[in-house]
Amino acid sequence: MPAADLAYPQAAEAFWLERVAESVGPGTEGLERLAADVARLSDLFTTERPAGAYPDYFSDPAALAAYGIFFLPQGWTRAGCALDQCMRFRGWRPAAAAPRVLDVGCGPGSCGISVAHSLVKAGRGPSELIGIDHSPAALASFEALASTVLGREITVKTRLSDAQAPEGWPEGSFDLIVAGFVINELDQVGPDGAQAWMEAACARLAPGGLLLVIEPALRFAAERLLKASDDLAATGRFLRLGPQLDALPSPLLASGRDHWEHESCAWTAPDSAQFVNRKLHRDLREVRFSYAAFLRGSPAVDPPAGSARIVSDIQTIKGLVRFIVVAQGREQQIEVATRGMSKHEVKLFAGRLARGCVVGIGQSTAPKVRLSGPGELVTLWSP
Ligand SMILES: C[S@@+](CC[C@H](N)C(=O)[O-])C[C@H]1O[C@@H](n2cnc3c(N)ncnc32)[C@H](O)[C@@H]1O
Repeated sequence: MPAADLAYPQAAEAFWLERVAESVGPGTEGLERLAADVARLSDLFTTERPAGAYPDYFSDPAALAAYGIFFLPQGWTRAGCALDQCMRFRGWRPAAAAPRVLDVGCGPGSCGISVAHSLVKAGRGPSELIGIDHSPAALASFEALASTVLGREITVKTRLSDAQAPEGWPEGSFDLIVAGFVINELDQVGPDGAQAWMEAACARLAPGGLLLVIEPALRFAAERLLKASDDLAATGRFLRLGPQLDALPSPLLASGRDHWEHESCAWTAPDSAQFVNRKLHRDLREVRFSYAAFLRGSPAVDPPAGSARIVSDIQTIKGLVRFIVVAQGREQQIEVATRGMSKHEVKLFAGRLARGCVVGIGQSTAPKVRLSGPGELVTLWSP
């Protein structure tokens, strides 16, 4: 399967460069000044919860511009990657001829505008995109960015609304609800409330509608989301569409191992983000994240028999490429013999695999499976 085109639109980068110029100054000098705001936001997003409530960081124009230049393109790519797995691998399409998309805790639009953009490219553009947040500055920015990137074909609306209370969200049902990096900011949801929140969000879906919840790859956030996803999948009320291949509980959650389930997706950061990163030295070669996707009602394409999901990094050692998969609720170590291959061939082969890829490994359920060469491994989906 060809990889999805997750390219971040140049129009979006240009939009944020204008916000930088307005808030801290134009050109490279403005971007240099922005690095401190990026670092402050980064500290905020990598702690489990700051003391007291989360501040409205988007009310400060410099912080908003820092988010738009550095974090928003990453969120855009993560949301696009998660939706791509649901669409290309599991065959999801909005059922309605005029789909409605809701972005909960939308901020300036990383996830909602990204998924709307992907749907347009897939020929299923939404008729309506609604963003809800409790930050007025974020909502104003969402509307401006959406009209820059999506044009006037799609009706874009925003509303000040509490992400914690799905029954109070805008009326009607939705074909796609996306909630990116918001659950851990919701006081009333807390560490144990994510399952109930996701279930209530699923109840706001139209038949055939999709809920996409995206969270950081940090262990505490990824494991909390996975536990909620496992619990919701076990109820059988909604169909788990991804990233796990079935409704069976994750064997990694119980194992206490030093690896945990999360996704990674290679990307090319926009030039402006790379410029800001010259002093920050964050790893921008790939984006990491966790996600949960649930479907209301209509059936999806089942993963082919023998499908397995890669849940570790890829190790290349002498004569072997090695990684861990989860298949049918079991953890398996896969070793692919590379004897007789040149270093270049091994690098190419290993480079095509990544955490989150779905591969076909045959029917063995043994804890360790040895394949005689790359020809025995089929890539079914890769981010
Ligand atoms: C880390 S930002 C993520 C923004 C956007 N979803 C993204 O992926 O870039 C979290 C967002 O959730 C919003 N938020 C937090 N608590 C909220 C609440 N109770 N109701 C509505 N929005 C909330 C914040 O204002 C912020 O815009």
